[in-house]
Amino acid sequence: MSESVKKDELRARLERLVEDARRDGRLAELEQIFRSLTTVPDTAASTGEMPMRFGMVGDSAPMQAVFKLLERVVESDVSVLVHGETGTGKELVAQALHKYGHRKAKPFLAENCAAVPANLLESELFGHKKGSFTGAIADRPGHFVAADGGTVFLDEIGDMPLAMQSKLLRVLQDGEVRAVGANTSKKVDVRVVAATNKDLVAMCKAGTFREDLYFRLNVVTITLPPLRERKGDIAHLTQFFLKKIGAEMNKQVAVTPEALIVLEGWKWPGNVRELDNVLRRAAVFAREAIRPEDIGPPIVP
Ligand SMILES: Nc1ncnc2c1ncn2[C@@H]1O[C@H](COP(=O)(O)OP(=O)(O)OP(=O)(O)O)[C@@H](O)[C@H]1O
Ligand SMILES: [Mg+2]
Repeated sequence: MSESVKKDELRARLERLVEDARRDGRLAELEQIFRSLTTVPDTAASTGEMPMRFGMVGDSAPMQAVFKLLERVVESDVSVLVHGETGTGKELVAQALHKYGHRKAKPFLAENCAAVPANLLESELFGHKKGSFTGAIADRPGHFVAADGGTVFLDEIGDMPLAMQSKLLRVLQDGEVRAVGANTSKKVDVRVVAATNKDLVAMCKAGTFREDLYFRLNVVTITLPPLRERKGDIAHLTQFFLKKIGAEMNKQVAVTPEALIVLEGWKWPGNVRELDNVLRRAAVFAREAIRPEDIGPPIVP
């Protein structure tokens, strides 16, 4: 029996149990048990129970596959492309590749390729010489030089302009960078991790992403499953976030079985980030434990 089938069956049994308890007037007792399970006290033993690997919560089959892949590539220097919908944990994976690998003592520098204007991206990544453009008042190393020995994370790589893609490809091929306005290159040793929620294969076909760069970046692809395809992780993530939110708000908040069933039924277009936000809002309204009425309406019902 596959893990997801087992989890579905367990969930169905839990739903039946809640129904029975409500009918028999024992819902409060069930809630009490659940509260004890989901309110995480500050003990080492309880944190030991949290299914967490590489700093990420989860034990669903799709997340186990992610962890297995991480295990195999974390110590290597191969380029990794992290793919997944918004809020699925792409940045966490990029950080894990750095933090749990042999480069951890060196810098991890991230650049959001969608947020930086095209003309500044080259200088951000490769650096510039003083006077190479208006405003370049001093020499500045780019991320590839500053992160030497470490990791450069290229977030939203699908938004990198084509001209910049060619320059990046050259750096990846040669292992050396040339700052804007410089006439010599510098050897660098960085691991590159890129992330996107775009379909880069389709973009290659459409001519908006360089195929040769795609193959360079995509030595290994780690695809993060959307939250709706790993509903079994929702209870663990809820427990994880409530512990964090509780500490921030100085208030212990649990979740009722009924509220958890509601959360497990949502589609979560914003994935794990959305779950965090929903719990944060619900925790404000909740007294001891979050009830269905403390949770706002889903964005997509
Ligand atoms: N498995 C997980 N365990 C714990 N926290 C998680 C997990 N996945 C994601 N998060 C948390 O959810 C939030 C969103 O994660 P992250 O920023 O890595 O997503 P993303 O895929 O990069 O999203 P976007 O595409 O919008 O940039 C972060 O606060 C992150 O810490
Ligand atoms: Mg991100």
